[in-house]
Amino acid sequence: MKKIKILCVFGTRPEVIKMAPVIRALQGDSSFQVRTCSAGQHRQMLEPMLRTFSIRPSLRLEVMTSDQSPQQVAAKVLSGFEKVLSREKPHLVLVQGDTSTVLAAALACFYGRVPVGHVEAGLRSGDRRHPFPEEGNRVCVDHLCELLFAPTPLAARNLLREGILKKKIFVTGNTVVDSLHWALGRRGLLRPVIEKMSNGSRWILVTLHRRESFGRPLAGIFGALRRIVERRRDVEVLYPVHLNPSVRVPARRLLRHPRIHLVSPLSYLDFIGAMKRSAAILTDSGGIQEEAPTLGVPVLVARERTERPEAFKTGQMRVVGRDPKRIFSAVFRALQKAPSEKSFRPNPYGDARAAARIVQGIRFYFGLSRKKPKRWS
Ligand code: UD1
Ligand code: UDP
Repeated sequence: MKKIKILCVFGTRPEVIKMAPVIRALQGDSSFQVRTCSAGQHRQMLEPMLRTFSIRPSLRLEVMTSDQSPQQVAAKVLSGFEKVLSREKPHLVLVQGDTSTVLAAALACFYGRVPVGHVEAGLRSGDRRHPFPEEGNRVCVDHLCELLFAPTPLAARNLLREGILKKKIFVTGNTVVDSLHWALGRRGLLRPVIEKMSNGSRWILVTLHRRESFGRPLAGIFGALRRIVERRRDVEVLYPVHLNPSVRVPARRLLRHPRIHLVSPLSYLDFIGAMKRSAAILTDSGGIQEEAPTLGVPVLVARERTERPEAFKTGQMRVVGRDPKRIFSAVFRALQKAPSEKSFRPNPYGDARAAARIVQGIRFYFGLSRKKPKRWS
């Protein structure tokens, strides 16, 4: 029997982390021929992830330039992907998340009349400015897709409310939890800075990269971090700085302090090691909000809104905004808790079996299975 050709696309670090379990699960099903395309929206931050997950892209677009705008990325992926589609002729394309790569690839598929499946569909903050441009991207992408893999029941409800047909929606859990469980089962050599995190200090892990925070909001958050380490001598900050110059340059300028450790982006296994050893995480990342509940580490989200409120309801996460005073007191409060108070409750974003459900959904779509897979949660 002729195999069904599935083309999995990714352009940035988190897309690789979250698409990897789907690629692996599809490769384990003999009905499918799996092809992979790296758009290369990221370069240095993408390559180590490909190595971690042993992914060798079948195709590469290499679109990244320094200090790029979303428009530049989207334009290059849109035109590059048109050629990829006409050469590859896939039966289905899979995209993950809400980046410029994802929107442009989905749009190219729509114009090329190729069906698209969206992994992590239905996330909504309800405000197009937060996060920007991701909220707008994900709304557009969901309406271009034939298959919508909503990670949680809330995400599925968001899609239904926008008029997307129920038969297209599958509630699967988030594949980030699949990857996290896979990584927790592996041992790697940790960088010295992460080994040092057992030195008796209380460590705050920081990541920040949202476009809507560039400039003053970011400078304000950096100011709050400095005041925290100045006030408490037992606190150290580990901050793997995103390579975007709009983050890297002010971080280097405003965060000079012996107990603030600015490092390059960490490998996935190192980063998980760092999360496990932290007393608290201050971040504006999407994926980290979803990973931290498994590790029992409190997450403070330095954003005005989140599209991932599930952990908020279970008390595993707090949205602290970007006001420096609020951040200062929220971090301070999180540090009052003793390390023994880590709360290990079920992860509300997934159960590490999302990829298998996505493959079942694809089988159902192509008529290889009669029954729609059971929804998660
Ligand atoms: C992008 C996504 C964001 C996602 C994030 C994951 C968009 C609009 N934004 O944001 O949703 O959360 O990736 O990290 O799609 N750079 C490098 N090397 C790299 C990666 C980036 O030098 O490997 C620098 C380059 O100067 C690049 C800049 O960072 O131009 C911005 O990269 P870009 O992918 O446009 O935006 P991110 O902020 O990474
Ligand atoms: N991550 C990593 N190394 C780092 C920082 C983050 O491997 O130095 C991982 C993290 O575990 C999570 C993902 O990258 O899975 C989050 O990526 P990012 O914050 O860049 O993007 P977002 O999730 O906000 O789209």
